[in-house]
Amino acid sequence: MNERILDSFTKDALETARANNTYRSMRLMETPESSCVKIRMPDGASQEQILLASNSYLDLANIDELKQAMAQTVLEWGTGSGGARLTTGNKTPHQELEEFIAKFKGEESAITFNTGYMANVGTISALCGKNDFIFSDELNHASIIDGIRLSRAKCFVYKHNDMADLQRVIQEADKSRAYAPTLPAPRKLIVTDAVFSMDGDLANLPELLRIAKENDCLLMIDEAHATGVLGKTGRGLAEHYGCAHADVTVGTLSKTVAAEGGFVAGKQQLIDFLRNKARSFIFTTAMAPAVAAAACNNLRFIDAHPERVQNLRDNVKFFCDALRREGVNVDLSPSAIVPIVIGDEAKAMQVSAKLQEQGILIPAIRYPTVVKGQARLRASLMATHTQEQLQTAASIIAQAVKEGV
Ligand SMILES: Cc1ncc(COP(=O)(O)O)c(C=O)c1O
Repeated sequence: MNERILDSFTKDALETARANNTYRSMRLMETPESSCVKIRMPDGASQEQILLASNSYLDLANIDELKQAMAQTVLEWGTGSGGARLTTGNKTPHQELEEFIAKFKGEESAITFNTGYMANVGTISALCGKNDFIFSDELNHASIIDGIRLSRAKCFVYKHNDMADLQRVIQEADKSRAYAPTLPAPRKLIVTDAVFSMDGDLANLPELLRIAKENDCLLMIDEAHATGVLGKTGRGLAEHYGCAHADVTVGTLSKTVAAEGGFVAGKQQLIDFLRNKARSFIFTTAMAPAVAAAACNNLRFIDAHPERVQNLRDNVKFFCDALRREGVNVDLSPSAIVPIVIGDEAKAMQVSAKLQEQGILIPAIRYPTVVKGQARLRASLMATHTQEQLQTAASIIAQAVKEGV
């Protein structure tokens, strides 16, 4: 091993991250994902924590009935799929899952990927190429950004949720096209998170649909934090607004659905196209059949239990109200994500560590995940938090934020 060469690749980056308070390390959780967990503290002891940091918003990861159903599918289907979907990996549970996703989302068809990240990267890079235009919200998730980079399309970033700015960049793109009349007409794609993962606010789907139609754009939304959360029955952003669907709906099976994987739902032709062209679908081994079956069972559970979606919404309101009563400045979140902006990176880290000592687990989110100077506590709620847990957490958070530690 040539340590000098390894240093030249890695040392500066690590030292810079440490100096900027952006060095990342992992916390060890010693119990399954649930509203209350045990974590390993820096001194090696286990400590119970109220978990306000999970993406498992309906708290489905640890329900006996769903765990037993998954265990049964392992016994039936074994531990792995053994091949890519287009070779030997496509098993009955994969097909059943895709059929159910299409039904749940009210679409003609669906395709699954091994992660939501792979769904975004594969879909965008299949739909767009070098001569195309992509219009992207400035706060879109990293997997969308990486998909755009991979596509090599020309990207026009518009201000967060600013529909006038979106129209401005579309006009700018159309004008730039006038200088290249010999090239084929570019395809135009608008892409946005449905729920913004660090702010918890929503994309304006009715306006996006209108702008996409008026400007001949395809519209793609990423419902990673919307499926199982938005709308009366958790079907997502279109149900929330009571409007039409986007042309391309991406989602993940690893957050609210509490399994693993990603999906795209839409017209049959779109899904056939992705099955033929999305490289992150084609050139990888299919997810384990038991994981596909677990995702399908869990989605069926969401479909059968809309009251759980309502419990989540009630909890978000209770928590935001409690924080405000305690003097913390937060808006009522329309999703399960409640950002508590601290600003300074080091201070956000200190507040988060202080809360952890007091039994409240909320990670600090810092640059580069959010803009520099906008470090925050990203609280996320579950349908199963009790009001007592939420009130306790709100009081302790308010105290830590006020003291500034
Ligand atoms: C908005 C958004 N899209 C996509 C993803 C990726 O999903 P997955 O974790 O299934 O890869 C995430 C989170 O990880 C996300 O927050």
